[in-house]
Amino acid sequence: MSYDTLLYNIGELILPAPGPLKGEGMKQLKIKENAAVAVKDGKVAWIGSHEESIQQQAETKVDAGGKVVSPGLVDPHTHLVFGGSRENELALKQAGVPYLEILKKGGGILSTVQATREESEDELFEKAGRTLQRMAAYGVTTLEAKSGYGLDRENELKQLRVVQRLRDQGSLDIVSTFLGPHAIPPEYKQDPDGFLDEMVKLLAEIRSENLAEYTDIFCETGVFTVEQSRRFMKASQELGFRTKIHADEIDSLGGTELAVDMGAASADHLVAASDEGISKLAEGQTVAVLLPGTTFYLGKNEYAKARKMIDQGAAVTLATDFNPGSCVTDNLQMIMSLAALKMKMTPEEIWNAVTVNAAHAIGKSDKAGTLEIGSAADLVLWDVPNYQYIPYHYGVNHALAVWKHGRKIWG
Ligand code: NIG
Ligand code: FE
Repeated sequence: MSYDTLLYNIGELILPAPGPLKGEGMKQLKIKENAAVAVKDGKVAWIGSHEESIQQQAETKVDAGGKVVSPGLVDPHTHLVFGGSRENELALKQAGVPYLEILKKGGGILSTVQATREESEDELFEKAGRTLQRMAAYGVTTLEAKSGYGLDRENELKQLRVVQRLRDQGSLDIVSTFLGPHAIPPEYKQDPDGFLDEMVKLLAEIRSENLAEYTDIFCETGVFTVEQSRRFMKASQELGFRTKIHADEIDSLGGTELAVDMGAASADHLVAASDEGISKLAEGQTVAVLLPGTTFYLGKNEYAKARKMIDQGAAVTLATDFNPGSCVTDNLQMIMSLAALKMKMTPEEIWNAVTVNAAHAIGKSDKAGTLEIGSAADLVLWDVPNYQYIPYHYGVNHALAVWKHGRKIWG
């Protein structure tokens, strides 16, 4: 058999176990030293030792130089598509104006809503496409992308169509999430329930056009209550969507508990999750998506309690939360460093978080996050001596080459 590509002389091949990995499971990371991987027709076709690889035939042979190879990273929470930017808010932040205060005054998410409404589908498509290229360069081969900056039928559908076009383009795998209830638009300021009704009405259309697989809601003081979130999640599930929730990011409202009770696929942020919420995560099926880049960017000192969550048995993953206001980075490697430095996650936990557990949080565990014979050949060659090195050396791009379905897309 002649393979399409053979990566040989791999110092460490990262082989996350099938997940979701909870608690103790997150602490183990399988590494094959002196390894080689062969790819055929976009899939992993052979995994063996460097010595065995000398016999293998392949069209392209890549010397990994004793460095690290991993599955493509998975970013399970991004706000990929938006208009404009919010650099003007930096001065407000420096002056100590809280995030929810900026939103209350019509800035924050609402200023991005205005900019997104003003941009055409093609403009948004082009801009998000550039972000995707950067994400790929950082080693991400699968991600989730949310709407939520339209807040009306026309503009939410516009954002979701951009995601659909990017998905159809096929360079990266993208899971689409409808986040209609992301903020209350000015036209519904006095009637949040009326706005929620509008978003619930949109669900059937999104479903029939297959524009999203998941829904999401921002459950927070001054945005949507736990009861409103329950109503929206229930309506979503009745139509066959899987659900996510921005929960307990700033105030501890009980969104984490709600997520587990409703069987949500993930509960995201969780900085202010209660002890009760954390115990529920450990017992339930909901994956905890932690976003330390957001806490960092909002200038807060309290990070999500990753240690407590993992030690109690929850399945934890990490994501960028890439968006124009609360976390302006598309570099998941930076998030891996913050997870180590600010949340005391170990390198093993971090790698499991950004591969197998991230794939679980977006329903892609059959397609991403692990490397076995038959897995998608989504691979990253890292310019590092060992897997512990990436969280350690922050702020630079360590990805030397990235393959998606066996095709080289970076490096
Ligand atoms: O996940 N918290 C709500 N939504 C985003 C921020 C969106 C924005 O500020 O534009 C988040 O942090
Ligand atoms: Fe978010």
